[in-house]
Amino acid sequence: MSADTADAPASSPFERVGGHDVMRAITDRFYDLMDQDPAYAELRAIHAADLSDMRAQLPAFLAGWAGGPRDWFEANPGKCMMSAHGGIPITRDTAGQWAEAMTRAIAEAEVAEREIADAMADVLSRMARGMARG
Ligand code: HEM
Repeated sequence: MSADTADAPASSPFERVGGHDVMRAITDRFYDLMDQDPAYAELRAIHAADLSDMRAQLPAFLAGWAGGPRDWFEANPGKCMMSAHGGIPITRDTAGQWAEAMTRAIAEAEVAEREIADAMADVLSRMARGMARG
């Protein structure tokens, strides 16, 4: 490795997946699937009727979570995603629906680096399944 590349800042998973446009495409597809595919009806039913707030929040959370701009974390200081879901009745079935819809949305997206995007799908799926209590 040359001195130049050694000094260059490592790019974040956020950048390697494709930045804000890709995060937004993934989360919009995720909520479209949740809204339209009967396989996710149970998951859809525990969300608010209007998903527009979630369509804004999830890509902003994912951006900071994947090492990109931290606006969501600055607006929600100290908020932990696992605890934030503590009051939501998440079962193995609905957690599995979340994981599956997210995995599909990521698989269908035109991402910059497929390997990084697939790793993101894997970790998010494990986090979602880890939230199940019933
Ligand atoms: C890695 C996994 C997950 C991530 C990153 C995630 C992310 C988010 C975010 C950013 C919010 C915004 C509201 C807030 O600030 O609290 C939220 C709310 C919510 N999440 Fe999740 N979530 C995940 C898994 C799940 C799972 C597995 C379920 C259900 C099975 C779920 C159901 C909900 C519901 C019902 C809300 C409230 C929104 C509403 O009332 O419409 N989430 N989630």
